[in-house]
Amino acid sequence: MIDFEALFRLSYGIYVISSHGNDTLGGCLVNTVFQLTAEPVRIGVSVAKANQTHDLITAGGTLAVTVVTQEAEDKLLGKFGYRTGREIEKFAAGEPYHFDEHGDPVLDRFAAAYLSCTVEKTVDLDTHSVFICRVDSAVKAGDAPVMTYEYYRNVKKLKSSRYAPTWVKP
Ligand SMILES: Cc1cc2nc3c(=O)[nH]c(=O)nc-3n(C[C@H](O)[C@H](O)[C@H](O)COP(=O)(O)O)c2cc1C
Repeated sequence: MIDFEALFRLSYGIYVISSHGNDTLGGCLVNTVFQLTAEPVRIGVSVAKANQTHDLITAGGTLAVTVVTQEAEDKLLGKFGYRTGREIEKFAAGEPYHFDEHGDPVLDRFAAAYLSCTVEKTVDLDTHSVFICRVDSAVKAGDAPVMTYEYYRNVKKLKSSRYAPTWVKP
């Protein structure tokens, strides 16, 4: 049997991953960024195939990670975590951002750090792809405490999404 309360004891952070196409900028909230190796520095991230961000990463081969601080507003978390870039422009006026070395957009507000990454391998997991990436640069953006998934759930009392790998069928 699988006790989902046991799975809830796993720890995660909260991140915005982002990528770009010819004339599209996109990104989404994830809780599944994790460091895989030290030399070279590699990370992995699990992204639902249904997400627009998945298509952008697959086509372009790069992604950026904004490590989100605890101060991040519900509005921003909702926009990146529940809305799709196929329907709204997430990187638009009112949401300050800049471009990393690959041309991927990263958030100026509520950022603790940025990682610029190149996809080395993609592992197909049916509903999701795990992108294994080399980290080309990593920049600390401030000292504010980072948001953990536990903080997101228990302090902010916000819900996960059906496309998060940690989603539990109601
Ligand atoms: C707390 C939280 C965690 C999430 N974690 C992931 C994740 O790890 N991987 C993923 O693919 N989607 C995850 N999602 C879902 C995406 O953020 C969501 O499907 C988003 O609307 C996709 O936007 P896009 O279509 O513009 O890419 C998460 C959502 C929330 C609210």
